[in-house]
Amino acid sequence: MDRGGRDDGHRIPAPFPAAFPRRRVLAAQEITNHIGKGGLCPLLDCLALRACRDGRAQPCIAVALGSREGIPIMLVAFEGQDGAGKTALLEAVHAGLQRRGIASVMLEEFSDSPYGRQLVRAVARDKFLRPVADDGATPITRTLEEVADLYYFDERIIGPALACGHKGLKDRHRDTIFYTLTPTLVTSGTIANEERVLGWLTALCSELLHPPDLTVYVWAPLSIRLERIARRPGHFAEGRAHKASDEDRAVFAARDRIIAWLIAKEPTRFLTVDNGEHPIEKGAQEVVEAIFKRQTRTEDAL
Ligand SMILES: Nc1ncnc2c1ncn2[C@@H]1O[C@H](COP(=O)(O)OP(=O)(O)O)[C@@H](O)[C@H]1O
Ligand SMILES: [Mg+2]
Repeated sequence: MDRGGRDDGHRIPAPFPAAFPRRRVLAAQEITNHIGKGGLCPLLDCLALRACRDGRAQPCIAVALGSREGIPIMLVAFEGQDGAGKTALLEAVHAGLQRRGIASVMLEEFSDSPYGRQLVRAVARDKFLRPVADDGATPITRTLEEVADLYYFDERIIGPALACGHKGLKDRHRDTIFYTLTPTLVTSGTIANEERVLGWLTALCSELLHPPDLTVYVWAPLSIRLERIARRPGHFAEGRAHKASDEDRAVFAARDRIIAWLIAKEPTRFLTVDNGEHPIEKGAQEVVEAIFKRQTRTEDAL
Protein backbone atom coordinates (compact mmCIF):
# COMPACT_ATOMS: atom_id res chain seq x y z
CA MET A 1 0.00 0.00 0.00
CA ASP A 2 1.19 3.46 -0.82
CA ARG A 3 2.14 5.37 2.27
CA GLY A 4 0.71 8.56 0.89
CA GLY A 5 3.50 9.85 -1.30
CA ARG A 6 7.03 9.06 -0.17
CA ASP A 7 8.24 12.00 -2.26
CA ASP A 8 6.79 14.33 0.37
CA GLY A 9 10.04 13.90 2.27
CA HIS A 10 8.53 12.01 5.18
CA ARG A 11 10.52 12.11 8.32
CA ILE A 12 9.90 11.06 11.84
CA PRO A 13 8.37 14.11 13.51
CA ALA A 14 10.18 16.11 16.12
CA PRO A 15 9.28 15.14 19.67
CA PHE A 16 5.96 16.46 20.82
CA PRO A 17 6.20 18.66 23.88
CA ALA A 18 5.39 16.87 27.12
CA ALA A 19 2.23 18.88 27.52
CA PHE A 20 0.92 17.99 24.07
CA PRO A 21 -2.89 17.85 24.10
CA ARG A 22 -4.13 14.52 25.28
CA ARG A 23 -6.29 13.47 22.37
CA ARG A 24 -6.54 10.49 20.13
CA VAL A 25 -6.94 12.36 16.87
CA LEU A 26 -5.35 15.72 16.35
CA ALA A 27 -6.71 18.54 14.25
CA ALA A 28 -4.85 19.14 11.01
CA GLN A 29 -3.56 22.46 12.23
CA GLU A 30 -2.04 20.89 15.31
CA ILE A 31 -0.25 18.32 13.21
CA THR A 32 1.11 20.84 10.75
CA ASN A 33 2.24 23.04 13.62
CA HIS A 34 4.39 20.22 14.87
CA ILE A 35 5.64 18.43 11.83
CA GLY A 36 5.18 20.89 9.03
CA LYS A 37 3.10 20.58 5.88
CA GLY A 38 3.61 17.41 3.98
CA GLY A 39 5.05 15.60 6.99
CA LEU A 40 3.98 12.20 8.14
CA CYS A 41 2.83 11.57 11.63
CA PRO A 42 3.33 7.83 11.86
CA LEU A 43 1.58 6.90 15.03
CA LEU A 44 -1.07 8.80 16.89
CA ASP A 45 -2.41 5.99 18.93
CA CYS A 46 -3.70 3.55 16.30
CA LEU A 47 -4.63 6.12 13.74
CA ALA A 48 -1.96 7.33 11.37
CA LEU A 49 -2.56 10.70 9.80
CA ARG A 50 -0.88 12.55 7.03
CA ALA A 51 -0.76 16.30 7.08
CA CYS A 52 -1.40 17.11 3.45
CA ARG A 53 -0.04 20.02 1.50
CA ASP A 54 -3.37 21.79 1.80
CA GLY A 55 -3.17 21.51 5.56
CA ARG A 56 -5.95 18.95 6.00
CA ALA A 57 -5.30 15.73 7.85
CA GLN A 58 -6.12 12.47 6.11
CA PRO A 59 -5.86 8.94 7.39
CA CYS A 60 -3.01 7.50 5.36
CA ILE A 61 -2.36 4.01 6.63
CA ALA A 62 -5.65 2.21 6.35
CA VAL A 63 -4.10 -1.00 7.54
CA ALA A 64 -3.38 0.65 10.87
CA LEU A 65 -7.01 1.20 11.62
CA GLY A 66 -8.48 -1.31 13.99
CA SER A 67 -5.78 -3.90 13.47
CA ARG A 68 -2.85 -4.14 15.86
CA GLU A 69 -1.46 -6.90 13.65
CA GLY A 70 -1.03 -4.40 10.85
CA ILE A 71 1.07 -1.86 12.72
CA PRO A 72 4.62 -2.13 13.98
CA ILE A 73 5.16 -2.89 17.61
CA MET A 74 5.91 0.38 19.36
CA LEU A 75 5.29 -0.23 23.04
CA VAL A 76 6.52 -3.44 24.61
CA ALA A 77 5.61 -4.18 28.21
CA PHE A 78 7.53 -6.66 30.34
CA GLU A 79 5.37 -8.45 32.87
CA GLY A 80 5.92 -11.30 35.26
CA GLN A 81 6.45 -12.24 38.86
CA ASP A 82 9.22 -10.84 41.07
CA GLY A 83 12.58 -12.32 40.16
CA ALA A 84 11.39 -13.68 36.81
CA GLY A 85 13.91 -11.45 35.03
CA LYS A 86 11.79 -8.62 33.60
CA THR A 87 14.34 -5.88 34.13
CA ALA A 88 17.26 -8.00 32.96
CA LEU A 89 15.36 -9.09 29.84
CA LEU A 90 14.25 -5.54 29.06
CA GLU A 91 17.86 -4.35 29.17
CA ALA A 92 18.97 -7.23 26.96
CA VAL A 93 16.20 -6.46 24.46
CA HIS A 94 17.23 -2.81 24.41
CA ALA A 95 20.80 -3.83 23.60
CA GLY A 96 19.57 -6.29 20.95
CA LEU A 97 17.45 -3.63 19.26
CA GLN A 98 20.38 -1.21 19.29
CA ARG A 99 22.50 -3.80 17.49
CA ARG A 100 19.83 -3.95 14.80
CA GLY A 101 19.69 -0.17 14.51
CA ILE A 102 16.23 0.10 16.08
CA ALA A 103 15.89 3.00 18.51
CA SER A 104 14.27 2.19 21.83
CA VAL A 105 13.91 3.74 25.23
CA MET A 106 13.91 1.86 28.51
CA LEU A 107 11.10 2.90 30.81
CA GLU A 108 11.48 2.00 34.45
CA GLU A 109 8.88 0.52 36.69
CA PHE A 110 8.23 3.79 38.52
CA SER A 111 8.46 7.29 37.11
CA ASP A 112 10.42 10.16 38.54
CA SER A 113 7.19 12.07 39.20
CA PRO A 114 5.83 12.59 42.72
CA TYR A 115 3.56 9.56 42.06
CA GLY A 116 6.50 7.36 41.17
CA ARG A 117 8.66 8.57 44.04
CA GLN A 118 5.85 7.77 46.45
CA LEU A 119 5.77 4.20 45.08
CA VAL A 120 9.55 3.81 45.41
CA ARG A 121 9.18 4.67 49.09
CA ALA A 122 6.23 2.28 49.42
CA VAL A 123 8.02 -0.67 47.82
CA ALA A 124 10.91 -0.20 50.21
CA ARG A 125 8.47 -0.69 53.07
CA ASP A 126 6.61 -3.65 51.58
CA LYS A 127 7.80 -5.53 48.51
CA PHE A 128 4.21 -6.10 47.40
CA LEU A 129 3.43 -2.41 47.78
CA ARG A 130 0.75 -3.11 50.35
CA PRO A 131 -0.03 -0.28 52.74
CA VAL A 132 1.79 -0.66 56.04
CA ALA A 133 0.97 0.92 59.38
CA ASP A 134 1.46 4.70 59.48
CA ASP A 135 2.30 5.21 55.78
CA GLY A 136 -1.07 6.91 55.37
CA ALA A 137 -2.25 4.66 52.53
CA THR A 138 -5.20 2.30 52.21
CA PRO A 139 -5.51 -0.46 49.59
CA ILE A 140 -7.72 1.87 47.56
CA THR A 141 -5.42 4.89 47.75
CA ARG A 142 -2.39 2.71 46.96
CA THR A 143 -4.23 1.44 43.86
CA LEU A 144 -4.91 5.01 42.80
CA GLU A 145 -1.23 5.91 43.28
CA GLU A 146 -0.15 3.04 41.05
CA VAL A 147 -2.71 3.92 38.41
CA ALA A 148 -1.73 7.60 38.63
CA ASP A 149 1.90 6.76 37.93
CA LEU A 150 0.89 4.66 34.93
CA TYR A 151 -1.13 7.56 33.53
CA TYR A 152 1.85 9.85 34.12
CA PHE A 153 4.01 7.48 32.11
CA ASP A 154 1.37 7.17 29.42
CA GLU A 155 0.97 10.85 28.80
CA ARG A 156 4.29 12.40 29.71
CA ILE A 157 6.86 9.73 28.88
CA ILE A 158 5.50 6.99 26.63
CA GLY A 159 3.51 9.26 24.30
CA PRO A 160 6.43 11.61 23.52
CA ALA A 161 8.86 8.67 23.12
CA LEU A 162 6.59 6.91 20.62
CA ALA A 163 5.98 10.14 18.75
CA CYS A 164 9.75 10.34 18.18
CA GLY A 165 9.61 6.92 16.56
CA HIS A 166 11.30 5.12 19.44
CA LYS A 167 10.16 1.74 20.66
CA GLY A 168 9.15 1.98 24.30
CA LEU A 169 10.29 -0.88 26.54
CA LYS A 170 8.27 -0.61 29.74
CA ASP A 171 9.11 -2.46 32.93
CA ARG A 172 5.58 -3.44 34.05
CA HIS A 173 2.45 -1.83 32.65
CA ARG A 174 -1.31 -2.18 32.95
CA ASP A 175 -1.38 -5.94 33.55
CA THR A 176 0.64 -5.41 36.72
CA ILE A 177 -2.23 -3.31 38.07
CA PHE A 178 -4.55 -6.28 37.52
CA TYR A 179 -2.49 -9.18 38.79
CA THR A 180 -0.81 -7.47 41.72
CA LEU A 181 -3.67 -5.37 43.08
CA THR A 182 -6.53 -7.81 42.70
CA PRO A 183 -5.26 -10.22 45.39
CA THR A 184 -4.48 -7.30 47.74
CA LEU A 185 -7.88 -5.69 47.35
CA VAL A 186 -9.73 -8.96 47.91
CA THR A 187 -7.65 -10.44 50.74
CA SER A 188 -7.71 -7.14 52.64
CA GLY A 189 -11.52 -7.26 52.45
CA THR A 190 -11.54 -3.90 50.66
CA ILE A 191 -13.56 -5.10 47.65
CA ALA A 192 -15.89 -8.07 47.89
CA ASN A 193 -14.58 -10.30 45.13
CA GLU A 194 -12.20 -10.54 42.16
CA GLU A 195 -14.91 -9.89 39.62
CA ARG A 196 -15.72 -6.51 41.18
CA VAL A 197 -12.04 -5.60 41.50
CA LEU A 198 -11.34 -6.48 37.88
CA GLY A 199 -14.33 -4.43 36.73
CA TRP A 200 -13.15 -1.41 38.74
CA LEU A 201 -9.54 -1.69 37.56
CA THR A 202 -10.64 -2.09 33.95
CA ALA A 203 -12.59 1.16 34.19
CA LEU A 204 -9.69 2.94 35.94
CA CYS A 205 -7.27 1.97 33.19
CA SER A 206 -9.61 2.50 30.28
CA GLU A 207 -8.32 5.98 29.34
CA LEU A 208 -4.70 4.98 28.79
CA LEU A 209 -3.68 6.28 25.39
CA HIS A 210 -0.87 3.82 24.72
CA PRO A 211 -1.69 0.26 25.60
CA PRO A 212 1.16 -2.17 24.89
CA ASP A 213 1.35 -3.55 21.36
CA LEU A 214 3.25 -6.53 22.70
CA THR A 215 3.43 -7.80 26.25
CA VAL A 216 6.32 -10.07 27.09
CA TYR A 217 5.36 -12.37 29.89
CA VAL A 218 8.64 -13.31 31.53
CA TRP A 219 8.28 -16.72 33.12
CA ALA A 220 10.56 -18.62 35.47
CA PRO A 221 9.72 -21.37 37.96
CA LEU A 222 9.09 -20.33 41.54
CA SER A 223 12.24 -22.09 42.83
CA ILE A 224 14.46 -20.09 40.47
CA ARG A 225 12.63 -16.85 41.20
CA LEU A 226 13.09 -17.35 44.91
CA GLU A 227 16.82 -17.99 44.44
CA ARG A 228 17.13 -14.81 42.39
CA ILE A 229 15.12 -12.79 44.91
CA ALA A 230 17.39 -14.07 47.69
CA ARG A 231 20.49 -13.02 45.74
CA ARG A 232 19.40 -9.60 44.57
CA PRO A 233 21.09 -6.58 46.06
CA GLY A 234 19.20 -5.28 49.07
CA HIS A 235 17.92 -1.76 49.26
CA PHE A 236 14.76 -2.61 51.09
CA ALA A 237 13.83 -1.33 54.50
CA GLU A 238 11.53 -4.33 54.79
CA GLY A 239 13.39 -7.15 56.57
CA ARG A 240 11.50 -9.90 54.69
CA ALA A 241 12.21 -8.51 51.21
CA HIS A 242 14.52 -11.38 50.26
CA LYS A 243 12.51 -14.17 51.84
CA ALA A 244 9.31 -15.89 50.80
CA SER A 245 6.85 -16.78 53.54
CA ASP A 246 3.80 -19.00 53.05
CA GLU A 247 1.79 -15.81 52.75
CA ASP A 248 4.12 -14.59 49.99
CA ARG A 249 3.70 -17.89 48.15
CA ALA A 250 -0.07 -17.48 48.34
CA VAL A 251 0.30 -14.01 46.79
CA PHE A 252 2.44 -15.46 43.98
CA ALA A 253 -0.15 -18.19 43.36
CA ALA A 254 -3.01 -15.69 43.18
CA ARG A 255 -0.99 -13.55 40.78
CA ASP A 256 -0.23 -16.61 38.61
CA ARG A 257 -3.93 -17.35 38.34
CA ILE A 258 -4.80 -13.80 37.24
CA ILE A 259 -1.90 -13.63 34.79
CA ALA A 260 -3.13 -16.88 33.19
CA TRP A 261 -6.58 -15.34 32.88
CA LEU A 262 -5.19 -12.15 31.30
CA ILE A 263 -3.18 -14.14 28.76
CA ALA A 264 -6.17 -16.34 27.89
CA LYS A 265 -8.26 -13.21 27.32
CA GLU A 266 -5.81 -11.64 24.83
CA PRO A 267 -3.45 -14.39 23.65
CA THR A 268 -2.13 -12.51 20.62
CA ARG A 269 -0.84 -9.61 22.69
CA PHE A 270 1.38 -11.82 24.80
CA LEU A 271 4.71 -13.45 24.08
CA THR A 272 5.69 -15.82 26.87
CA VAL A 273 9.42 -16.10 27.34
CA ASP A 274 10.87 -18.96 29.36
CA ASN A 275 13.56 -17.27 31.43
CA GLY A 276 14.18 -20.13 33.81
CA GLU A 277 17.30 -22.09 32.95
CA HIS A 278 18.06 -20.24 29.72
CA PRO A 279 20.58 -17.46 29.38
CA ILE A 280 18.95 -14.05 29.18
CA GLU A 281 20.21 -13.53 25.60
CA LYS A 282 18.02 -16.38 24.33
CA GLY A 283 14.83 -14.71 25.54
CA ALA A 284 16.03 -11.32 24.33
CA GLN A 285 16.57 -12.72 20.86
CA GLU A 286 12.99 -14.06 20.77
CA VAL A 287 11.60 -10.65 21.69
CA VAL A 288 13.81 -8.75 19.24
CA GLU A 289 12.76 -11.18 16.49
CA ALA A 290 9.08 -10.64 17.29
CA ILE A 291 9.50 -6.85 17.11
CA PHE A 292 11.63 -7.02 13.98
CA LYS A 293 9.28 -9.41 12.16
CA ARG A 294 6.28 -7.20 12.66
CA GLN A 295 8.29 -4.15 11.66
CA THR A 296 9.33 -5.68 8.35
CA ARG A 297 5.87 -7.20 7.73
CA THR A 298 4.35 -3.75 8.16
CA GLU A 299 6.91 -2.07 5.94
CA ASP A 300 6.30 -4.69 3.24
CA ALA A 301 2.57 -4.05 3.46
CA LEU A 302 2.90 -0.30 3.01
N1 LIG B 1 18.21 -15.88 32.49
C1 LIG B 1 18.84 -15.52 33.59
N2 LIG B 1 19.94 -16.19 34.00
C2 LIG B 1 20.60 -15.84 35.12
N3 LIG B 1 20.27 -14.81 35.92
C3 LIG B 1 19.19 -14.10 35.56
C4 LIG B 1 18.43 -14.42 34.39
N4 LIG B 1 17.42 -13.53 34.31
C5 LIG B 1 17.55 -12.71 35.37
N5 LIG B 1 18.59 -13.05 36.12
C6 LIG B 1 19.05 -12.38 37.38
O1 LIG B 1 18.02 -12.59 38.34
C7 LIG B 1 17.87 -11.43 39.16
C8 LIG B 1 16.43 -10.96 39.10
O2 LIG B 1 16.19 -10.46 37.77
P1 LIG B 1 15.37 -9.13 37.54
O3 LIG B 1 15.48 -8.80 36.11
O4 LIG B 1 15.77 -8.09 38.52
O5 LIG B 1 13.90 -9.67 37.89
P2 LIG B 1 12.53 -8.86 37.96
O6 LIG B 1 12.79 -7.52 37.35
O7 LIG B 1 11.55 -9.69 37.20
O8 LIG B 1 12.17 -8.80 39.41
C9 LIG B 1 18.88 -10.41 38.66
O9 LIG B 1 20.02 -10.46 39.45
C10 LIG B 1 19.17 -10.88 37.23
O10 LIG B 1 20.46 -10.52 36.81
MG1 LIG C 1 12.69 -5.54 38.04
